[in-house]
Amino acid sequence: MTLTIRPVTEAVGAEISGVDLAQLNEAEFAQIEQAWNRHSALLFRDQQLTDDDLLAFSRRFGELDPPPVQEHGRQSPEGYPDIYVVSNVLDDKGAPIGALGAGEAVWHTDMSYLATPPDASMLYSLEVPPTGGDTWVLGMQAAWATLPDALKAKVRGRRIKHDGTYNSGGYLRKGVTPTDDPHQAPGAWHPAVIAHPSTGAPSLYLGRRRNSYVEGLSPTESDALLDALWAHIERPDLRYQHRWRVGDLLLWDNRSTMHRRDPFDSATRRVMHRTQIKGSGAPRAWAEAA
Ligand code: OGA
Ligand code: MN
Repeated sequence: MTLTIRPVTEAVGAEISGVDLAQLNEAEFAQIEQAWNRHSALLFRDQQLTDDDLLAFSRRFGELDPPPVQEHGRQSPEGYPDIYVVSNVLDDKGAPIGALGAGEAVWHTDMSYLATPPDASMLYSLEVPPTGGDTWVLGMQAAWATLPDALKAKVRGRRIKHDGTYNSGGYLRKGVTPTDDPHQAPGAWHPAVIAHPSTGAPSLYLGRRRNSYVEGLSPTESDALLDALWAHIERPDLRYQHRWRVGDLLLWDNRSTMHRRDPFDSATRRVMHRTQIKGSGAPRAWAEAA
């Protein structure tokens, strides 16, 4: 097999083919890592991975992170605490086997409400609905590069509060009491423009829109600036739409992308096994070369 790398959009993502992730050698991983640093999201199709294979591939990127606590608590396949299930399927007692249901998951980057969010996350598809449930990935390096200068000037050097009250499915996180005050709300402050630790490339770092707040601005000014930034990332050329097939593995860099998911018919089944890579450090402010 020859490993080939094909960008899926100019802004973000590459599909890598000609490789079996269950039997990866060092030379292949070196090429994957290079593509990873360059494209921020990778797609591998037609894989046949056991949970052990998924864990082994995930560990190539770093130490694994325990999954987030979702709306129903933490859900993992029996004996695999480092994997969690993203699914709308109900078990025989009517309880969800996984997180996020069948609704939309709004744009976000994973767990940026923590001081040190996971570096990367990956989804491996076991069952996919006939329509809907597409995952979209947005290139935040391209989002920064294409941001109008006036907006760049407004966010440069600022920090944003990444609120941790709700998950991307709109569910209140377990154990959290909602508040309107960004200074009281659970979450973390991060630089609005961060440098990628491997390449130094700048990314706009927004996290989630809901309850987000730009430090040092009035709530009205903050909302106006955030609305302008979020309007910018609506540009169609910044995003990749992933239509799932069984056996796809999609991996994204939480420091340089955001993602969202389309809703799908809750009468159909979608089952993903997911891992995430522990943060190697807190998001670091991008310092422009003088
Ligand atoms: C996630 C996530 C979206 C999806 O697992 O972090 O946002 O497509 N999933 O299921
Ligand atoms: Mn997510």
